[in-house]
Amino acid sequence: MSGELSPIDKAKFVAARKAAEYVQDGMTVGLGTGSTAAWLVRCLADKMQTEGLTFKGVPTSTRTAALANQLGLNVISLDEARWLDLTIDGADEFDKDLNLIKGGGGALLQEKIVATASDQMVVISDVSKRVDTLGNFPLPVEVIPFGWQTSKALLEELLVSMDVLGRKTTLRMNGDAPYVTDEGNHILDCHLNRIGNARQLALALNQVPGVVENGLFIDICDIVVMGHGDGKVETHDINAGTIGEDQIDFLDTDNLFTDLAD
Ligand code: 5RP
Repeated sequence: MSGELSPIDKAKFVAARKAAEYVQDGMTVGLGTGSTAAWLVRCLADKMQTEGLTFKGVPTSTRTAALANQLGLNVISLDEARWLDLTIDGADEFDKDLNLIKGGGGALLQEKIVATASDQMVVISDVSKRVDTLGNFPLPVEVIPFGWQTSKALLEELLVSMDVLGRKTTLRMNGDAPYVTDEGNHILDCHLNRIGNARQLALALNQVPGVVENGLFIDICDIVVMGHGDGKVETHDINAGTIGEDQIDFLDTDNLFTDLAD
């Protein structure tokens, strides 16, 4: 079964498999959103079945909640959890300081709240997400529907004074209609190409009326677990200043592919 996965999916899987080792019995764990995070949920379900792992999961979207419930995880809300031991989530880009762009899957608001309410955030990714400078991936900014076109204009005006290369913003669509987040908001994707000062931009964006949150995660991520298509996994720990390397053997995981793959 593992042979049918693309190299990118294998890379996402091995990153998730490695990061699942951070989850210990009794922990409360934030469950991210996206295709990599979905692998994590499957890996955790497998560890429940094969190792008797017990933990509570706080999903960051209705999509992740549906998958976690389907696989029998013990799902609780953030209000029930209040504080989490760990959040494991994907990302659209990360740089050498482990600052991130997130929100490609539209769940940045819940993802940022849950990650910020966690002792530790671990990002799982394939190698394509590592960049020298953030900004090639369009930066998602969540805005309330009321007056979104005014918010868009204000945002574009703000970008004139920011250290970015591009300034075009587009309303994310879902077919013919604007994309709607779990909170009932819209997303403006900002095509910046290069973000010179991500910290400054993250603070400034949230000052624009109508903006709920932006997809820049600054000083939130502690560890990135980056998978490769051949099963190699690199673990970058920003606090310890270490880079570890492991190899995940696909043969050991054939049950997981057979039982849990989509
Ligand atoms: C969702 C996200 C995702 O983590 C991000 O888009 C990465 O997704 P994938 O793992 O599918 O590449 O931020 O809002």
